[in-house]
Amino acid sequence: MNQDLLLKKKEIVNFFLKKNILVSADFLTKLDSCSTVSEMDAFKELSSELLILNPDIDTNSSKNSDINWKELEKSRVFHEKGKSSVTYNKFLDIIKSDELSSSNQINATKDVLDVEGLNNNLTENSNVKVLFSYDEPSKKRTVQDFVGFFNQRHKKIESFLKHRKELQNLSSINRILQKKDKDTVSIVAMITDKQISKNNNIILTVEDPTGFIKVVVNKNKPEMFELVNNSVLDEVIGVVGVNNGNVIFANEIIVPDIPINQELKKSPDETYAVFISDLHFGSKLFLKEEFDKFINWINGAVGNSEQKDIASKIKYLFIAGDLVEGVGIFPGQEDELEIMDIYQQYEELSKLFERFPKNIQIIVCPGNHDAMRIAEPQPPIYKDFAKALWDMPNITLVSNPSLVNIHSSDGFSGFNVLMYHGYSFPYLSDNVLAIRSSGGLTRADLLMKFVLQRRHLAPPHTSNLSIPDMNSDPLVIDKIPDFFVTGHIHRTTVSSYRSVTLLNCSCWVSQSDEQARRGIVPEPARVIIVNLQTRQVKILKFGAK
Ligand SMILES: [Fe+2]
Ligand SMILES: [Fe+2]
Repeated sequence: MNQDLLLKKKEIVNFFLKKNILVSADFLTKLDSCSTVSEMDAFKELSSELLILNPDIDTNSSKNSDINWKELEKSRVFHEKGKSSVTYNKFLDIIKSDELSSSNQINATKDVLDVEGLNNNLTENSNVKVLFSYDEPSKKRTVQDFVGFFNQRHKKIESFLKHRKELQNLSSINRILQKKDKDTVSIVAMITDKQISKNNNIILTVEDPTGFIKVVVNKNKPEMFELVNNSVLDEVIGVVGVNNGNVIFANEIIVPDIPINQELKKSPDETYAVFISDLHFGSKLFLKEEFDKFINWINGAVGNSEQKDIASKIKYLFIAGDLVEGVGIFPGQEDELEIMDIYQQYEELSKLFERFPKNIQIIVCPGNHDAMRIAEPQPPIYKDFAKALWDMPNITLVSNPSLVNIHSSDGFSGFNVLMYHGYSFPYLSDNVLAIRSSGGLTRADLLMKFVLQRRHLAPPHTSNLSIPDMNSDPLVIDKIPDFFVTGHIHRTTVSSYRSVTLLNCSCWVSQSDEQARRGIVPEPARVIIVNLQTRQVKILKFGAK
């Protein structure tokens, strides 16, 4: 490139910098391909429009305002990371053909993104449909994100509560604060503080998007007092009471809860789903022999005739996180690692998974030991780390939490399975008094019921590390599942609440020093088996303990 062109190139880069536009490497390549100064100058004219710095796209197409450029860039990232090129190519086709109408383009690309962003290896007949999986890219969060996030949680849970007959005349906190006369009032608000008064009443501070107010919960109303005594910060409740100044004296506290009369669905055919979690593969404490036995059973190689018969009818295997032990999770972890490299851990694990029958669909969400951010929602396990898993045709990788539909057929809507690893459970078992006094972490049944009643997987902000999202709170339990599956506490619990089957999965690792410190007493090598036709649940034990 001659001196004039070099100077012109610098000038153009500075020109964009002054406009707060950082040019990309692709753009520089475009400049490099210019043979005259005036050719380069032509690029300045683009500054008033959206710049297309992507070599795949003709600059003239930048005038097409109907394209969802943000989604295009997202799909390009997918393409460049080797995840999938379907959407990106679709965008390129749209741009090149310029045929579709504006609305069609947006809808068409969104449809593809829904499929691509949420799922990976599904075939049409796999009978696994991902209803919700979080796939938002990480970005720097601001205070506004947190405000928006809590507002979204309030709005969503309010939509569950406002149908309750007790809350028919909902008001907002600012309206109540303006009232001069005492009146019966009702609000939906988030608990931001909880204190015990000198008289042993509970004083809550609650907040809605319009303001704060105190709520007095009298100890002489034992049922309500008990409910509030077991409440946690940041949960959203309904309050009915009498206002007096800037205080409401509560007569009734209502948690959102799940409906009573939901149908207990049963599959028309005898099919089984199996639930496990917390393999912690790569740890020296991973129970190789026991897991090997499990694989042999699922292949029909071991077990009595009834057990073999069940194995032959398994179509779904759910794994609720902590697939590998990970690296750098806690100080001194390297002493407990058999495989020191995270890539290697997934690579070796996938060799085990290859031994599962190919007709079984495996659905996997991450846990806090997996290769990704610990903050929830966690996106599906990163392909960069676990490529071998992503390449398996019968595996579906989803986020934590996620909602997956399985086994639908003509005339049968299938089962919705809510997957959540369970990171909030240790906090809740310490801070919900009734759970703490009933066995704490050993009572996954109570923990799971608690979060269903609150319609939120981790109500207190401090119970997990969360990534706030302005648009929604993905940890709100929106759709009521048929099965709710968790892990993390390494113990098997099977229970039900209303029509929801609650399954907390066992682990495949013996107790580490770190688990002992966290009060986790594992019940390893157990597999939960559900007959989808009868909804009967069995636990099969593959270890001596
Ligand atoms: Fe775990
Ligand atoms: Fe975990």
